[in-house]
Amino acid sequence: MVTSSAPGKVYLFGEHAVVYGEPAVPCAIERRVRVTATEIDEGLRIHANDLQLDGFTVEYSGDGESHPDVDVAESLVEAGMGYVNEAVAQARDAADAPEAGFEISVEGDIPLGAGLGSSAALVVAAIDAATRELGVELSASEIADRAYRVEHEVQDGQASRADTFCSAMGGAVRVEGNDCRRLEGIDTLPFVIGYDGGAGDTGALVAGVRDLREEYDFAADTVEAIGDIVREGEAVLGTDDYETLGELMNFNHGLLSALGVSSRSLDSMVWAARDADAHGAKLTGAGGGGCIVALDETDDALTALKYTPGCENVFRAELDTDGVRQE
Ligand code: MEV
Repeated sequence: MVTSSAPGKVYLFGEHAVVYGEPAVPCAIERRVRVTATEIDEGLRIHANDLQLDGFTVEYSGDGESHPDVDVAESLVEAGMGYVNEAVAQARDAADAPEAGFEISVEGDIPLGAGLGSSAALVVAAIDAATRELGVELSASEIADRAYRVEHEVQDGQASRADTFCSAMGGAVRVEGNDCRRLEGIDTLPFVIGYDGGAGDTGALVAGVRDLREEYDFAADTVEAIGDIVREGEAVLGTDDYETLGELMNFNHGLLSALGVSSRSLDSMVWAARDADAHGAKLTGAGGGGCIVALDETDDALTALKYTPGCENVFRAELDTDGVRQE
């Protein structure tokens, strides 16, 4: 039996635009998905007793194919099982053991579909645990590559390498197309996360941006402008110029909003953080609902978000410099 864990992430800049080859800077945070893999005679059994969905804890135990007996956010549960199925297929392939059977248990403290990279963390941790259980140790970058293939498959070809690379490597990373690297010298960023208790459908949100981009030149320009923000932001990353970083985050949120991926609750949390003098705030991840990230080293945004209608949970998230690891 092997247990591995991998961190979730927030996007400092660049989600959605990264799908079209613009750069992005996701940062791993100290919230993890833990996956335990045990080799069994045949097949695949999945236990996910601790996947947090929309405020509910889902009790699910099954073969990864049949529908779990839950009445909330069923599509998200199915998606979670799809990710585990594909991750196990990658592990079997890496270990040259196509018939290997597995019992997989998943637990974690990252809400699904909320913009904190739960699916990437799940896939990365599952590939690491299952390959180690078969006696194979992959490098973090090989796990990132295989995890990307899983996201690409499960999300119908609409995925960048950003989430999976960040979860595998940890820390702040820069992703532009296939060029992925860790940004050295960034050990801390004062992140405050606000969570509205909801979730967005990543596939549908990515498809919405794709359609807008195809229909309107100004939407394509907006995507490019997000890339410009990332390039500006890189110049001050690693310094304590939080003013500029925050201003660029605000810009980034405005452009994501123009692309239709924000929501009332995300906007209201973003404004609550800004009114409390956070340096900046934006939605993180695919959007549609879920989480915002604010930059604030004081407790002001944290306190303001606690009293913001629509904000169900707020917490400070430290940058996690550790990527995937065996527990
Ligand atoms: C989702 O966490 C981030 C997106 O940019 C999609 C992707 O990069 O695969 C919206």
